[in-house]
Amino acid sequence: PRYWFVIPAAGIGARMGAGKPKQYLMLGDKTILEHTLLRILALPGLAGIVVPLSSEDSYWTSLTILQHPLVHTIHGGTTRADSVLSGLDYLADKSHALDWVLVHDAARPCVTVENIQTLCNELSDSDIGGILAVPVSDTLKQVVNKKEIQTTVDRSALWQAQTPQMFRYKLLRDCLTQTIANNETITDESSAIELCGYKPLVVEGRADNIKITRPDDLLLAEFILQQQQK
Ligand code: CTP
Ligand code: MG
Repeated sequence: PRYWFVIPAAGIGARMGAGKPKQYLMLGDKTILEHTLLRILALPGLAGIVVPLSSEDSYWTSLTILQHPLVHTIHGGTTRADSVLSGLDYLADKSHALDWVLVHDAARPCVTVENIQTLCNELSDSDIGGILAVPVSDTLKQVVNKKEIQTTVDRSALWQAQTPQMFRYKLLRDCLTQTIANNETITDESSAIELCGYKPLVVEGRADNIKITRPDDLLLAEFILQQQQK
């Protein structure tokens, strides 16, 4: 099958606190967003990539290497879920040829092609879809009043969600539309699917598929990219 991707890149990067949205910060010789897009563009069988951008974005046009026929930019929304739904809406007129869709954070430039292929292969028989994730390895504490430990949470069933998250196109569009209309808080696509009563799958990914969120993550990502190129 040929896969469409939505890569939301309309965030402002508040937790990064840089002078510009974090997807436009440099990692080595390229911006984070370019690293991410180049990884996805290397995927065999890619149908295309939809990139929701902020309507106030003034950085995209300087990324000349992204004048690529498979990359389509659109306007995103005020939340990540809105941005992703805009991407799915953009694909609606292509939906006759559309079965699966994959959503991947612009802020995860260290994802590997092999990992994405594993996700696609593992989910191919599912009617719903699923996500890359890694089992939680730290001991987890439930804390009250911001300082008092109440209990240690059993981590044996806990996984950290990553992206890509891959779902049947129509199902994801319906579930996102419904959960946004109901004002639910959804921080990833899987939550929308879960809230509508479906059971997505986890596929074990790599711990180095980090999301760049805070300043410390930049050095770590640079290191990971260097290691992966060896
Ligand atoms: N995103 C988006 N539209 C939004 C908010 C987020 O497309 N309205 C995208 C971001 O650009 C990012 C991905 O969703 O690639 C994951 O979001 P996050 O890491 O939270 O990025 P930001 O929202 O930009 O960061 P922050 O929450 O710190 O402001
Ligand atoms: Mg955010």
